[in-house]
Amino acid sequence: MRIAVEGCAHGELDIIYETIQEMEKADGKKIDLLICCGDFQSTRNLSDLNCMAVPDKYKDMCTFYKYYSGEKVAPVLTVFIGGNHEASNYLQELPYGGWVAPNIYYLGYAGVITVGGIRIAGLSGIYKGQHLMQGHYEKPPYTENTIRSVYHIRNLEIFRLKQLTGNIDIFLSHDWPAGITKYGNENMLLKGKPFFKNDIENNMLGSPPSMELLEYHYPSYWFSAHLHCKFAALVPEKEGTRVTKFLALDKCLPKRKFLQILELEHDPKLSLKPQYDLEWLTILHLTNHLLSVKSGIHYMPGQYGNSRWIFTPTAEEKANILKRFNHELEVPLNFMQTMKPYNPDASAFSNDSPKLVINNQTTQFCNTLGIDDPSVLLQIMSNAKECKSNGLLIESSYKQISASNDISNSFEEDNVLNSTFDGSLPNDIFNRTSPLNLSPKSNSEEQDLEINSSKEALDGSINSLTSAVNFDCTDDGNKHFIQIEPNCKKFKRRNYSIYSNTL
Ligand SMILES: [Fe+2]
Repeated sequence: MRIAVEGCAHGELDIIYETIQEMEKADGKKIDLLICCGDFQSTRNLSDLNCMAVPDKYKDMCTFYKYYSGEKVAPVLTVFIGGNHEASNYLQELPYGGWVAPNIYYLGYAGVITVGGIRIAGLSGIYKGQHLMQGHYEKPPYTENTIRSVYHIRNLEIFRLKQLTGNIDIFLSHDWPAGITKYGNENMLLKGKPFFKNDIENNMLGSPPSMELLEYHYPSYWFSAHLHCKFAALVPEKEGTRVTKFLALDKCLPKRKFLQILELEHDPKLSLKPQYDLEWLTILHLTNHLLSVKSGIHYMPGQYGNSRWIFTPTAEEKANILKRFNHELEVPLNFMQTMKPYNPDASAFSNDSPKLVINNQTTQFCNTLGIDDPSVLLQIMSNAKECKSNGLLIESSYKQISASNDISNSFEEDNVLNSTFDGSLPNDIFNRTSPLNLSPKSNSEEQDLEINSSKEALDGSINSLTSAVNFDCTDDGNKHFIQIEPNCKKFKRRNYSIYSNTL
């Protein structure tokens, strides 16, 4: 199997695919897979450009929108992680991965898939210590701060990736693992990039969690980008025989080393279509209760707590997940547009304020796996806060977010599809198995399940609920509860004292 690995794409898909086709012509061998290590810039339209953290002068539509609109089709299966220059609003629709365009697959905040039996794991974003312990609280429209923090990696994804076992063939991170330079030719690197010197000497270059992951798994290959230069290293296992071959690649510019071809043996009987990794799916399921959409510090479980802290799945746990997927792990080809693509003929600049969009791919994935979509949790929190400020109690019905919207004619004025979250939730959301094992408390006439612990409320996730719930909807340490019940459509004014309750 021939794999082309690309550094930062920066939206230059036309150039990258043309280069691949030239390479195929030159040696007469087909390339089966393109892997891109971030800064992919999957901007669908001008509104998405406003969600990308770059100075205005770099806000260029480039060419991704053509692959999104259907004007062009990616000639090779393309798999990518996110970097620090992304249409973050779009990637946020696909937290567990999904198709951003036909034949172009995003791995999510973190993700693991196999292609032809080759196991590929990836971690999106870059490391910034001050945001590592927070939940995924950002949502569009972003502020000056959240437009950056949204792509900073979180401890949840590191924790989940550490639960993996077995061999990982390829691992992707956008920024380099910290300390990687000492395993390669540092002097040569400094000749090209002398300004790295201070950071290298102070051990400030790269991501410490990525190096932790590397030293956990010693994947056969580790590819990165971000620093816009080519750099190779060999990292031997400290007490073992494994070696990780590290390679960082440049960005896509003429005469730059932005592509590398890799030949890996694979089982020819296996399909080259992407498949979900069963162990990863099971880890996502088992750790769903650890998902937080709050900005507060959020710890992962450790050995000194009372609850489970190792989530490497058992054979039985994996078998249960396989059943949920009907023994079919091929990633479904369920791409749908969720925003209007850019129209180069329309001269007016779109000032649409980007909104949180619930993507049907994620809804389908979450429903199958029995996990929560962070965007749905964010929407609940946002609705709840709004109600709180209006002194209202929201009670809304939970109808299925329709996956059958005819998107070809359902664009709304504001460029957001009908499937944009409107306060509705998938109707099975209250029937899923609770990974938290919370015991329901039936002490009210309404048979509410009350979650008393603010820590366990949204962090504990809506997946844990069976009938109706009082959510702690605050982010500020004060406790306010918003009641959400199935089968009630109206807004009701209630006793204000409910909002001053402190538990
Ligand atoms: Fe970057």
